[in-house]
Amino acid sequence: MRIATADLIRELDRRTIEEVGIPGAVLMENAGRGATRVLTEHFPNLDQGPVVVVCGGGNNGGDGFVIARYLYEAGIESEVFLLTAPDRIGGDARVYFDALDGMNIPILLLKDEGLSEDVLSRWRSASCIVDAIFGTGLARPVEGLYREAIEAIEATGRPVFAVDLPSGICADTGRVLGTAVRAECTATFGLPKRGLYLYPGADHAGRIACVDIGIPERLLDELDIREEILDPFPLFGRLHRAPDTHKGTYGHLFVLSGSVGKTGAACLCSESALRCGAGLVTLGTPVTLNPVMEQKLTEVMTMPLPAGKDETLSAAGLEAIQEFASSVEGLAIGPGMGVNEETEEIVRSLWVDFDRPMVWDADALTLLGRNPDLRGKHSADIVVTPHPGEMGRLLDKPAAWVQQNRVEAVRSFAEQWGVVTVLKGARTLTAAPDGRLCINLTGNPGMAAGGMGDVLTGMVGAFLVQGMEAYDAASFAVWLHGAAGDLAAQTYGPIGFLASEVMRSLPLVFREWMEEMECSPSD
Ligand SMILES: NC(=O)c1ccc[n+]([C@@H]2O[C@H](COP(=O)([O-])OP(=O)(O)OC[C@H]3O[C@@H](n4cnc5c(N)ncnc54)[C@H](OP(=O)(O)O)[C@@H]3O)[C@@H](O)[C@H]2O)c1
Repeated sequence: MRIATADLIRELDRRTIEEVGIPGAVLMENAGRGATRVLTEHFPNLDQGPVVVVCGGGNNGGDGFVIARYLYEAGIESEVFLLTAPDRIGGDARVYFDALDGMNIPILLLKDEGLSEDVLSRWRSASCIVDAIFGTGLARPVEGLYREAIEAIEATGRPVFAVDLPSGICADTGRVLGTAVRAECTATFGLPKRGLYLYPGADHAGRIACVDIGIPERLLDELDIREEILDPFPLFGRLHRAPDTHKGTYGHLFVLSGSVGKTGAACLCSESALRCGAGLVTLGTPVTLNPVMEQKLTEVMTMPLPAGKDETLSAAGLEAIQEFASSVEGLAIGPGMGVNEETEEIVRSLWVDFDRPMVWDADALTLLGRNPDLRGKHSADIVVTPHPGEMGRLLDKPAAWVQQNRVEAVRSFAEQWGVVTVLKGARTLTAAPDGRLCINLTGNPGMAAGGMGDVLTGMVGAFLVQGMEAYDAASFAVWLHGAAGDLAAQTYGPIGFLASEVMRSLPLVFREWMEEMECSPSD
């Protein structure tokens, strides 16, 4: 599903109005009518008190006027409140403000009256409050009467229905600009806005319903929209298995991972690759740890490599690594690998010389961050999977900055370094150097636990060696990782399930989706 920023939706509205010739008032009518349908479907008890419609002075308020008219026509009692002076209402919103007047539907002007006790008590007795104060036009932190109104809506405890966006949420970043409404349901127009899916905006939006307001499909295609919520169906389809295939068909992944105290990372990463269908997986690990790995792993092959400082991989093994790597379809590097001069030498060499798909995580990313001269020097398709701390080290910014600017952070690294970048965390983002961006909606807070990232790395590696393009491999692995985490939470409970349990849930997610697609892997 494609998603939009405020600028993009403005451009779509403009072209629909100016190039296609559909008047803005028609779009607003469509928006208000569609939103009323969502409102009445989502809130079946609108007869238990008036619907309070709170309007701002822009087009979002205009949508509110249209909703009020449709409620009136449907015989649903409503009360309309306006937060600005009527003479400031212009454009399409004016048409529908005047229409309410023409139908003798009263509008209470709060600019003069303020939020009196009478107003607040009417809001408190509402069956639902329609928030039509700000949409994509919110341009600065909310203050004054607007702030008071939003806080008063929140204080009523009544269910809130947001028009296009919960007022106070930035359409592009999901940030709260001063204060914001918390909606039970949001009807958004044309395309869902990006900020509805990013925290904290996602927490304020409630259920999201997208209303078609008549923007022609052709315009959506022409604008080459590059932001999306992943539809995993086509990628599941790519895992289709013909009956006359063998393990060699599904690729061989070489995993470089493991150090003292971090053998689990190596095992989780390698086994997860098998759980995602890689034909063969070989774990390259320090020779001193090989007996441990042999004990822990059954289906994964191991390749003992020279151990160096702190029993991490030694640079003396570089030639063997390069030779073996040249025989496989892809490489996963980094989980529990250790950070020292020897592993740094290995990392530098593989970044520059290895020409097959790779996924980089954890210690490999820390080492990459210490070597900014490597930028632009790779030839392979690379996926990097930093968490916010690692992303911060790569960008030389604090992790808190990354969390405040997640889209900017992931995009800038992907573009500057020319690699597909996965910024982990609630609503994991995947960005490609060409500007594509995917927001992931699967997963749950139970997954905030050690080992989950190692599982993801192996999963990305598995899809790379099965021939998926780096962006598809990364965004699909992220989706599937969250879906397996959701299944683990359902099976074991919301807290305390392990990364290995997420890994073991993977085949069950495949089965569920294959069944849903009404095909089996060998159909
Ligand atoms: N084609 C269409 O007409 C169409 C179609 C469908 C939906 N819509 C609706 O139109 C909305 C966008 O309309 P819009 O561009 O007019 O923007 P808006 O979201 O309605 O907000 C713009 C209004 O809010 C004011 N404003 C912005 N930030 C403020 C703040 N922090 N404090 C106080 N006032 C503030 C602006 O005043 P200033 O001018 O002083 O900044 C302006 O009056 C969409 O979200 C959607 O709901 C429009």
